[in-house]
This record gives sequence, structure tokens and C-alpha cells, in this order.
Amino acid sequence: MNILVVGSGGREHVICSCAAKSEKTDKLYCVPGNAGISEVAECAPIGAMEFDRIVAFAKEKEIDLVIVGMDDPLVGGLVDELEAAGIRTFGPKKNAAILEGSKAFSKDLMKKYNIPTAAYENFTDAKEALRYLETAKFPIVLKADGLALGKGVLICNNLEEAKDGVKTIMMDKKFGSAGNEMVIEEFMTGREVSVLSFVDGTTIKTMTSAQDHKRAGDGDTGLNTGGMGTFSPSPFYTKEVDEFCEKYIYQPTVDAMKAEGRPFKGVIFFGLMLTEDGPKVLEYNARFGDPEAQVVLPRMKNDLIEVVEACIDGTLDQVDLQFENNAAVCVVLASEGYPVAYEKGIPIHGLEEFEKHEGYYCFHAGTKLDGKSFVTNGGRVLGITAKGADLKEARANAYAATEWVQFENKYMRHDIGKAIDEV
Ligand code: AMP
Ligand code: GLY
Repeated sequence: MNILVVGSGGREHVICSCAAKSEKTDKLYCVPGNAGISEVAECAPIGAMEFDRIVAFAKEKEIDLVIVGMDDPLVGGLVDELEAAGIRTFGPKKNAAILEGSKAFSKDLMKKYNIPTAAYENFTDAKEALRYLETAKFPIVLKADGLALGKGVLICNNLEEAKDGVKTIMMDKKFGSAGNEMVIEEFMTGREVSVLSFVDGTTIKTMTSAQDHKRAGDGDTGLNTGGMGTFSPSPFYTKEVDEFCEKYIYQPTVDAMKAEGRPFKGVIFFGLMLTEDGPKVLEYNARFGDPEAQVVLPRMKNDLIEVVEACIDGTLDQVDLQFENNAAVCVVLASEGYPVAYEKGIPIHGLEEFEKHEGYYCFHAGTKLDGKSFVTNGGRVLGITAKGADLKEARANAYAATEWVQFENKYMRHDIGKAIDEV
């Protein structure tokens, strides 16, 4: 088959690496891709939101299967457009991607179907939100309804901060139209776990668990980022937690979407908080997490393309999803200054080392080719992933591999996976 992947980050690099290994793949393309992806797939400079150009490209290259990796095109309806053109596509349609695209929608869905989540209210009017806050308990969480690059969540410690938050989201529109509506929800405490799953509209099969580190600095300090590193599996995701989530969260979510006339096909990412009252949903995403995918997919034993086709065909119940009985850690190498301001175009050295070592991966997020050399081209530059027999070994291996790579303003967290020491 000819396969096209849509996206340009570390997630799309690992998806392309898996697709390249599949016996089902003849020719692999990626739009827009990045320098690392261009080593396994033919990249074309078409933006992920240029739907007409993507459809035309897919027709021209006789693409048999498209995999959409990113949230924006999913929420915007790229899957609908490709399917309307007769092209098989992996990912939720627009009416199902709303599970990620609107936090107000997802909260209402959870309430209606009794799926455990934080107590909340939705607001379309800033004045009403401000009035509600007068009698609220703090800390409290404000969330812009729509997509905001993972930045539309504000945790406010007191009324003053919360009032500023309402202003930022609803009046100043810092996150654009994402802030036309807002969720105000109860602050929860506990361990966070990410669980990714394959869904075919009816059947759901979860992948091995993972945990992200969203803050820029060591010890969870500094600004929120797209993710500074991940580990998988999470030792806090026990058999009991899994059984609870299977019963009260995973299948109920898939059934709820079906009952609403919005059958979900693709990947559902469950952001969970393990609270004292049991696991609760923090958020849903309608796609693989990044960098979660970078520690989950390298541990998957199945052929990714076979699983993806089963999701499209509605035959996921026949797939025996299996993961290696080991662990993986991903440390993101970023540009100093990320997520605010940073330099680009700096030469990267040492990448050839990864070809010599089994179980080590360097997934590109923000790189480009300058002639024949790789240079930095974004805040998150590379995801350095290593496997190990257990989490400690995987972490030691990943940090050792971060030393192979050199670029001038290289920045990383030094405590990815440190929480596992507490187990
Ligand atoms: P989200 O994009 O909804 O996952 O939110 C981003 C981050 O904000 C989460 O990973 C949590 O660390 C934090 N967060 C979101 N909602 C809550 C909540 N209700 N209570 C505590 N922390 C939260
Ligand atoms: N790592 C979190 C996300 O992909 O949204």
C-alpha cells in the first residue's frame, strides 16, 4: 500500500518508523514531515491544514491509506474530506474529534454518561463566570474550550488569579476563539497517567500506559510545554486501576460517542488523574500523545498498519494487541529558552550514533536539513528514546544517549522518570 502520514513532530516520526517496518507498506509519504522523517518517508511541503492540497496529493500519489497524527486537522475535519474523496483514512471524523476539540462537549458527555471526572460548569459569558467564582473553592481550574496547544489550562490559587484567568481566556482572547467558551472545574490532586487506545467505533483496545512531564523545568517548575519527556509503563497504573478504567471510563466513552451518533474511530488518549476517590478523566485527546507515542509505539509488538486497518474496518475485536514486557523512557532535547523564545538553525551533531545501537531511537520534532546537515528548527528538537529491561535501566540508557547528541543551545530536563524511584 501507499501510505501518507499527516504531521511534522516526534509523534509522526515514530508513526512513520512503524509504518516503514510494515510489510504492507510499499511507498511511504509524510506532509509536511521534518528532516528526520525524510529518512524514512518522502516528505512534501504541504501544511497539515491545507486540506485541498492534501487530498490532491493523496490522489496524485495513489495513496491507499492516510494516517492523521495531529489534532488541528482532525478537529477541522480532514478525515471527512479525505473519505469524501474515497481515500481510506485513520482518525476520527470531525463530529467525533470534538471529544478533543471542545472541552465543554467532553465534560457534558462525561456528566451525561456518568464517566468519572472533576466537577465543573461551562460558561459562554464572562460575567457569569466571574459571578460563579465569587463563591468557588480554590485552587480552581479554568480551561479554554477549544484547542490551545496544550496551554489553555490555568490553575488559579485564589479569586484574584481566577478573575485574571477569565479575562485572559474570555475577554483578551489569548487563546483566540478557543476561549469563546470556558470550563471551570474542581482542582484534583493525584498521579497523572496517560493511556492511549485504538478504537474502531465499537471496540476499544488500550495500549501500555505512559506518563508525560509537561513543565519546562526540573521538579515540575516553569511553564507548561508540549511535553519534555515520558516513560512507559507507569508503575502507578496498577491492575486494579486498569480494571476500574476498563469498566467505568474506556468502554463507556466509546459507547457514549456511539450513542450520540458520533462513532469514534482512531486513537483516544485518556489523560487520567489517580485521585483518592479513584481514577478520573482530566482530558481526552483524539490522537496519539506526543511524546507519549515515542515510548509506547516502540514497545508495541503488532504491525501498526494492521491495527490501523482493523480500526477502519471495524475488526479491532480480532486483534491481539501486545506490548513488550520492558520499559522505555524518552527525554526531549529542546532549544534553550523553550517554550518562550529560542534560536533556530543551529547544527546538530552525533545523530549517526543511533544507527549503531539497538533499542535506542532519535525521533525528530523540530529539525530541518541545511544542505546535508541537520539543524534545529523548533523548540522541541529531538526525542531521545531508549528501552531497558525496567524503567531504571531505560532511564539510564536514555540519559546516556542524550550525551551522544550535541547542539549549541541544547536543553533538557534531568528528572524524567524520577517518580519511579518512589515505587
Ligand atoms: P489538560 O490539557 O486538560 O490535560 O490540562 C493540562 C494539565 O493541567 C494536566 O495535565 C494537569 O496537570 C492540569 N490539570 C488539568 N485539569 C486539572 C484539574 N481538574 N485538577 C488539577 N490539575 C488539572
Ligand atoms: N503529551 C500530551 C499531548 O500530546 O497532548
